[in-house]
Amino acid sequence: MCGIVGYIGNKKASPILINGLLRLEYRGYDSAGIATIEENEISVMKNQGRVNSLYELEGINDLKGTIGIAHTRWATHGKPSKENSHPHQDNSNSFAVVHNGIIENYNELREFLTEKGYNFLSNTDTEVIPNLIHYYFNKDENNDENRILRAVKSACSDLIGSYAIEILSKYNKNNMIVVRKDSPLVIGKGNGENYISSDIPAILSYTKDFYLLDDNEIVKLSRNKVMFYDENLKEIQKPVKSIEWGASSAEKGEYADFMLKEIYEQPKAIRETIGAKLDNGIIEIQGLSLDREYIKSLNKIYIIACGTAMHAGLVAKTIFEKLCKIPVEVDIASEFRYRNPLIDENTLSIYITQSGETADTIAALKLAKSKKSKTIAISNVIGSSITREADYSIYTHAGPEIAVASTKAYTSQVILLAILGMYFAQKLGKTDKEIISNLKKDILQLPNQIEEVLKSSDKVKQFAKKVYKEKDMFFLGRGVDYAVSMEGSLKLKEISYIHSESYAAGELKHGPIALIENNITVIITMTNSKLVEKSISNVQEVITRGAKVLAITSEEIKNNGFEEIIKIPKTNPLISPVLSVIPMQILAYYISKEKGLDVDKPRNLAKSVTVE
Ligand code: AGP
Ligand code: GLU
Repeated sequence: MCGIVGYIGNKKASPILINGLLRLEYRGYDSAGIATIEENEISVMKNQGRVNSLYELEGINDLKGTIGIAHTRWATHGKPSKENSHPHQDNSNSFAVVHNGIIENYNELREFLTEKGYNFLSNTDTEVIPNLIHYYFNKDENNDENRILRAVKSACSDLIGSYAIEILSKYNKNNMIVVRKDSPLVIGKGNGENYISSDIPAILSYTKDFYLLDDNEIVKLSRNKVMFYDENLKEIQKPVKSIEWGASSAEKGEYADFMLKEIYEQPKAIRETIGAKLDNGIIEIQGLSLDREYIKSLNKIYIIACGTAMHAGLVAKTIFEKLCKIPVEVDIASEFRYRNPLIDENTLSIYITQSGETADTIAALKLAKSKKSKTIAISNVIGSSITREADYSIYTHAGPEIAVASTKAYTSQVILLAILGMYFAQKLGKTDKEIISNLKKDILQLPNQIEEVLKSSDKVKQFAKKVYKEKDMFFLGRGVDYAVSMEGSLKLKEISYIHSESYAAGELKHGPIALIENNITVIITMTNSKLVEKSISNVQEVITRGAKVLAITSEEIKNNGFEEIIKIPKTNPLISPVLSVIPMQILAYYISKEKGLDVDKPRNLAKSVTVE
């Protein structure tokens, strides 16, 4: 949650900081602020609301400092307000701090500092940090160039929780200090200048060379140098990583919104995720090497994730069980962590996370690792936190996903998981070779088939115009069509604020059918010829009760009372969600547009959930 940007160089910092914040706004957007060093003082400007509201502040254009920090907030402690927005300063205005994360022991620290005479101006957990740094700075009698570094180190050893922190001090206008623990932060290396950001896309237009930080590392940045220290302030070396993403991949380009752009990028994302994995007879996945004996020894596979990524996991359960005949359990990371799951060294666990930064998913991985499970992380962000914890990391190649509502990450995850299932199946040798080779062919056709589905966009848009004022909707399906319905329902909730439920079509009559009334909207997905008749019977039950039904199907069906039928190409039902989800994404998108909502930044949400 929240976006952090920093700059140290020879250019005016404020436009670079605000530009970076605008690109990070999808991470949190209830207030924003910047601090720069002007002459010998720190100047802080902040405002409630979106990043653009900073331009309303008097004097913002007069900031001349060439070193600065910035923040766009997703409030955890203290409501969104000017006082609670970052940067926060210590009582003497000697230090300014922006923080992403949560300080769990802030109450104790606040009491401690209050006893020492410090006052607090906000309700945030963050405000203890600059004051604690000030406290340790004052206690230190050694006035050498590392005095601030030592104060930061001491303050951090008092903090319990998660944090990515940037620190400016008026005592050293040529340095900036940053530190991270369980919250993302990267350093962009420039020429005579350096950048800091919560994630790579925000500063891609300035540099493609990055340092990725590990937990508890402290960094001192100057214009020409980046120095890394471990938690004991021992200097360490870190490699520079060059990133392949082009700057335009983080721009909206000709599209009205990132979400629309990302929906249309799905053919490319799938092509790149498939890459060369299916080119040879033997499926190879870069970063993964599991031998047959190990896969044979597995008693269970856990798939753990949150939100959309968890929905991709539900599709994978069907694929894995069908191809590998190994039981698969899919769990929500925040549940898995606290239910004492049955894991041993014969349990493989797979963690799906687009951002690679989701706190609950990372914690679930750590838990399984401590119980000797081998762990595989599936992420879209190279070098993200989870990939540094997992035994194996494999990547979707969807390019940066900026819209809060996930689209291309989901379809790429489903494809990577299908290939992973085939990889296991091939090693086990249990599945008919023909099944695998047919599935391969079907996967390779998907990018072109997605292009086909995208052509039905207008039809879906017309349907959206008819239903956008509704208060409730239902998404129905059987098997993987049920799994994909959950994703359709989540998309709608997230960006249109319409309440919706997804149900296994056969379960409807066991209760929820009581909610079906005249004119209610129902979306049914039917991609499996073996189940289509059953689903049609279920849908008749709701049509009889007055429902308006949109059918998404690859089957030849008669129009027995459907309001609209969206025909999608036929593929193997196991991977059909990659096609059937697209009309649902488009439906949610156009409903949100009809309602005049902010598609890319829906209320209360943030792209990357780095708090538990
Ligand atoms: C997707 O539309 C959501 N915004 C959300 O459910 C998301 O998928 C979830 O928070 C997990 O994120 P991750 O993939 O980055 O871990
Ligand atoms: N916990 C801090 C606050 O509420 C930081 C939240 C964030 O990451 O934006 O201000």
